[in-house]
Amino acid sequence: MPLLRARAIFRSISPSYISRAFPTLAKPSNSLPVYHRLSSYSIHHFSSLSNLHQQQNMDSITELCMIPGPVEVEASVLKAMSTKATSHMDPRFIASLSELIKNLKVVFGSTSAQPFVIAGSGTLGWDQVAANILEQGDKALVLSNGYFGDGFGDCLKAYGADVTVLNAKIGDSFKLDQVEAELKSKNYKIVTVSHVDTSSGVVADVEGVCNIVKRVSPDTRVVVDSVCAAAAERLYMDKWGVDVVIAASQKALGCPPGVSIVIASQRVIDALNQRTSIMQSYEAKKGAYFATPCVQTMMALDVSVRHIVEQGMEEVFSKHEKVSAQFTEAIKRVGLRPVPLDDSLRSNAMSAVWLPEGISYPDLAAKMFSHGIVISGGIFKGYATQYFRIGHMGISATNQSLHNVDATTNALLSSLKELGYKSSA
Ligand SMILES: Cc1ncc(COP(=O)(O)O)c(C=O)c1O
Repeated sequence: MPLLRARAIFRSISPSYISRAFPTLAKPSNSLPVYHRLSSYSIHHFSSLSNLHQQQNMDSITELCMIPGPVEVEASVLKAMSTKATSHMDPRFIASLSELIKNLKVVFGSTSAQPFVIAGSGTLGWDQVAANILEQGDKALVLSNGYFGDGFGDCLKAYGADVTVLNAKIGDSFKLDQVEAELKSKNYKIVTVSHVDTSSGVVADVEGVCNIVKRVSPDTRVVVDSVCAAAAERLYMDKWGVDVVIAASQKALGCPPGVSIVIASQRVIDALNQRTSIMQSYEAKKGAYFATPCVQTMMALDVSVRHIVEQGMEEVFSKHEKVSAQFTEAIKRVGLRPVPLDDSLRSNAMSAVWLPEGISYPDLAAKMFSHGIVISGGIFKGYATQYFRIGHMGISATNQSLHNVDATTNALLSSLKELGYKSSA
């Protein structure tokens, strides 16, 4: 029973690692395992820049990585990754993970929720939710503003959930009155929301969804995919009534990829019969084993999250807000149009921007690269070739003395000019 085995990430039983890391592999599946699916995103993303990077070695990576994750990270974070081999039972690692677990509660506004910090990426959080919270046939309402919302829905389907998706057109968000009607119509076990859908840069009204759930369907669990929002957009688990938050290390949390984060409210934990001894044990500074953690990356994430918490969450959110507004103002000034239909839908973590008439993404990406900046192409189904994406989160937002966003804006304006763009503004 793959579902039971996959549950071990939340629970403390110890079946084989493989079934936990690749929980969908053993399924009598009607679809591909989500964790292994080669998406059009990866193909598009890879092919657009691969010719630029051919025959270069790692030392030659000097450009600013201004995509919507992985993002630039502080030197102190990188340094934390360069320790020599370290046991996962080393008291220094245990202290570091304990601190990280405590600080993640601060980042997501909860005093009682339980963080699960494991080796993996954001996608693994989808699998963890499917494997731990849902049974075959349970109803899931997926609020999708694009590629990642759809992907979460596909993952839940692969685990046998009965999924209903509310979609939005590009640049827009699902409507709260639709959510209310849908929640009244069926008994949904969970509702999922992508806080920022990285395909369009649209931010969802998570608080609004929570208020509706409280009013019309209080037993439904609210699950927020915060992979592209964590620490960049305000989210208060306890105050709003969020049950599960999914995140990953490589975006506004300011660390390289490698750590999957899931935070579950006590009511979710209580619904699982077993307690979460592994993470509780680490938090209490006692080592425990369920699978070898990515020791160095977790220590690096501890450093970056510590810096975030030291600044204060409101300060960090405000800095992301400010940088996002500045970047949007700069692109609008030269006549470019953000993908989100209006400012209330625009995320603070990243921007998606329509390409100007006559300029293709590969040409723009190549020009930007020649100015030392790496950007991303579009991924929203049906519109992938028509826009580009830039991340302005993590230290690029919180440490303005780095001028990463200024450098990106300047490179963008120069690149457009070199490609013959004449501002219509
Ligand atoms: C909103 C969102 N959810 C999930 C994912 C998947 O995360 P990962 O690529 O770390 O597996 C991403 C990745 O960019 C994302 O932006």
